[in-house]
Amino acid sequence: PPKVTTQTIVDMKGEERKISMLTAYDFTMAKIIDRAGIDIILVGDSASNVMAGYDTTVPMTLDHMIYHSSCVVRGVETALVIADLPFMSYQVTPKEALISAGRMMKEAGVHGVKLEGGKPVVETIRKIVEAGIPVMGHLGLTPQSIYKFGTYKVRATESEEAQQLLEDAKKLEEAGCFSIVLEKIPAGLAEKVTNQLSIPTIGIGAGKKCDGQVLVAHDMLGLNKEFKPRFLRRYADLDTKMTEAVQNYIRDVQSGDFPNEEEQYDS
Ligand code: KIV
Ligand code: NA
Repeated sequence: PPKVTTQTIVDMKGEERKISMLTAYDFTMAKIIDRAGIDIILVGDSASNVMAGYDTTVPMTLDHMIYHSSCVVRGVETALVIADLPFMSYQVTPKEALISAGRMMKEAGVHGVKLEGGKPVVETIRKIVEAGIPVMGHLGLTPQSIYKFGTYKVRATESEEAQQLLEDAKKLEEAGCFSIVLEKIPAGLAEKVTNQLSIPTIGIGAGKKCDGQVLVAHDMLGLNKEFKPRFLRRYADLDTKMTEAVQNYIRDVQSGDFPNEEEQYDS
């Protein structure tokens, strides 16, 4: 299959073809997800929760994200690879943001970056896009701001925040974003945003009217049993599958069943 580009993603909205996106943080998972035919692989800063075991995405560093992203890039043949810029790698100045985005592209080989926020990051996005680095926006529940929000509950349920989000989405499009993630907002608002933009929206907990959908791969594969928000659909129960496999191995080692004669070398 032909390589997915940012132009492919923008064109898919016009052609009313839904965009599929999943996260990956390592070579092996990226390879499986890419070969299955996904459009976009996101090296999310959710690596902080999923890979590193932190409670928030705040501790993730640019060097961590470059490492994960380079591993993913080596596993991908077809998908568009986008990496999150982590907290404090783009908020201080547009210049610093461009340096961070540039490192991500040069050192990890990603095809673009994602960063969180509306109006406060518009100038930053413009600068990164002008340098030739595609940018995906991210509005609604923006986890890097968890200490401002104080909760991971659904955002923009009141008209003031909803209006602000709509304006922010238009500003992100004007600044040159090729798409925008909408996280955990009412489906009606996501539909409105989607209809008012010419770039695609990619939703997570934002309803079926978005131009695409994204989930954290470990969540949809059932590798994270404790996490069960309303928006999550589970496509596998790999936690149970892996637990059974490990228990069977332990049993076979303890009983002496493993290894057998075919699983050993004779001189
Ligand atoms: O980090 C992440 O996984 C994300 C997606 C949930 C959009 O930003
Ligand atoms: Na993220």
